[in-house]
Parts: sequence; structure tokens; C-alpha cells
Amino acid sequence: HPLHEFIAGLPKCEHHVHLEGCLTPELIFQLAARNGVTLPTDDPAFTSIETLAERYERFTSLDDFLHYYFHGMAVLQKESDFADLAWAYFLKAHSDGVHHAEVFFDPQVHQDRGIPYEIIVAGFSEGCKRAERELGLTTKLILCFLRHLPVESANELYKKFLASGDYEKGTIHGLGWSSSEVGPPKDMFREIYASARDKDIRLTAHAGEEGDSTYISTALELGATRIDHGINLVQDPELMQRCARENILMTVCPVSNVKLQCVKSVAEVPIRKFLEAGVKFSINSDDPAYFGAYILDNYCAVQEAHNLSIMEWRIVAENSVQESWISNERKAELL
Ligand code: HPA
Ligand code: ZN
Repeated sequence: HPLHEFIAGLPKCEHHVHLEGCLTPELIFQLAARNGVTLPTDDPAFTSIETLAERYERFTSLDDFLHYYFHGMAVLQKESDFADLAWAYFLKAHSDGVHHAEVFFDPQVHQDRGIPYEIIVAGFSEGCKRAERELGLTTKLILCFLRHLPVESANELYKKFLASGDYEKGTIHGLGWSSSEVGPPKDMFREIYASARDKDIRLTAHAGEEGDSTYISTALELGATRIDHGINLVQDPELMQRCARENILMTVCPVSNVKLQCVKSVAEVPIRKFLEAGVKFSINSDDPAYFGAYILDNYCAVQEAHNLSIMEWRIVAENSVQESWISNERKAELL
């Protein structure tokens, strides 16, 4: 594509990537062997790297993907496993032109496997520090609560997070929620978000991916100031106007949406509708090891399907800097 060099060279900010979603089949098998972890024996997909990679080609839904995502991450055991995984992502992101990355992680599932909160945070945070030091890439960790687990599990984690002082220390920069969208109550984290909002903690939420636009309005009602995915915002023009007015960033993941069958093709992702309505969005990878596409692949997929002009790309890049959760000094460096 004639704009490829330009798109590759655009300074990028990533706002929607799950560090556990950066575990490749190769790394899953390598860490399983090294850590003595048995992969599920009742699913032929876990026979080899190749069968697992092949299974990733045909996810039928968000929950079908989540089944593999939550099983795969069981190979993470030691602090260094978490650090190495984060580092591998930052290296790749750096080569795709990412200058700033805000990354999710899911403590609850690791804790349920007996890994202490402190080990998970220390490992991921070590990877972040290394990226800042060696690549000059700024990073922020966002802790995610999981919707498929009982709310009591999230409450326990929230208490632990508050007691750790990790927010005050800047180790954890914000909170989010993710996992199954349709099914659990839309407002299941109402109490946690009310408390976090009182403390001025930055809040985001996965909404409007498989769920309709009311999942987005509920997330905003609970205090989220950013929406992860958010493609179903277009179902509600009034809500869309409000998001444009209030600078609510949609962290869109085009290839993820296709792979999880939320849309038939990237052309269906409402990039032009968002641009026309003045809704700010960024373009992101979500779970690059599972969807076979890192951030630059997602930028290229958007270009192929929507053919943005250089001016429009500049708007996308500028909005993704302006809506990053960083200081004005860092924004000025990135612009
Ligand atoms: N949606 C919800 N939960 C997730 C996702 C997603 O796209 N990726 C990892 N956890
Ligand atoms: Zn996600």
C-alpha cells in the first residue's frame, strides 16, 4: 500500500492489549515444559503448537476464545515468566512504532491457581520498567476485573489492590473489567467502581463488543471514562453524541472483532462513523498472539478496509496521544 511506510512510521499509543493475550502457542508449550504444567488432555487442540495455532483460526465467539485464553495462561508460574511475557510484547510493540502502551492484566485467574498477587504485579511491572529503560517506551498497567467469576472474587482483589498501595506508588495506573460480556449483570462491579471513583482512580471497561450499546451506557454510569471495544456504540446515536462531547475514547480492536465474529470484516468496524461523529478512538491489538495480528497489522487492516487519508491518520494518532492516561509533558513529547 502506498501509505504503508507512513502508517508504519506513525508514532502509536496502544490502549487495549492484554499481556496474557501475548502468550503465543510456542511460549505456552515452552513454559508448560519448563514449569511442569500439564495442558488440558481432553482437548486435541492442546496436542501441539501447530494444532493449537490451527484452533485459533476458528474462534466462534468471545467465550470460545476466552476458554483458550484462560487455559493458556496457566503456564505462567514464576515472577520471571510474567516479566518475560511483558518484555516480549513491548519488544514487538516497539518495532511496530508504539511509543506508549497501557496494558491489561487479569490477577484473579492467576490467584485462583495459587500465584500470589504480589508475584503477578512484580513480574509484569518488571517487564514494564525494562521497556521504559531499554526502549524508551512509556507503559502503564491496568488491572482488570473478570466478569465470568463471582463478584466476591473481584471484591477480594480490589481490597488487596487498595491495601498494596500500588495505585499511590504508580505501579498500577487504572482499573478495568473484561471477560464474558453478555450474561453476567451489566453493573456487577457497581460497588467497586463507586469506591474507586471516590478515590479518583482511572476507570475503563470492556463494553459494546458482543453486548449492545446499553452495556456502554451502564459502564459510563458506573464511572468508566474510557470504553474498550465500544463498536456497538453506533446503535445509539444519542449516546454516540455524548461520547463525542465528553471525549470518551473507544479502544477499538478491528482484527479481534473479526476473529471473534463480532463483525464479518474490518469494513464493518465503524471507523468512518466514529470519525464523522467526532468520537475519539484508538486502534489496538487486544490479544495479538491469539488473533495473529499486532498493532501495526491492525492499522494496516483499517487502511485496507477504510482507506483513510493522511489527515485522518494524523487525527487518529493525535487523539490516541491526547486520550492516553499520561502527563501533559509526556503528551507534548509524543505529539
Ligand atoms: N473481551 C473481553 N475480555 C477479554 C478480551 C476481549 O476482547 N480479551 C481478553 N479478555
Ligand atoms: Zn480486550
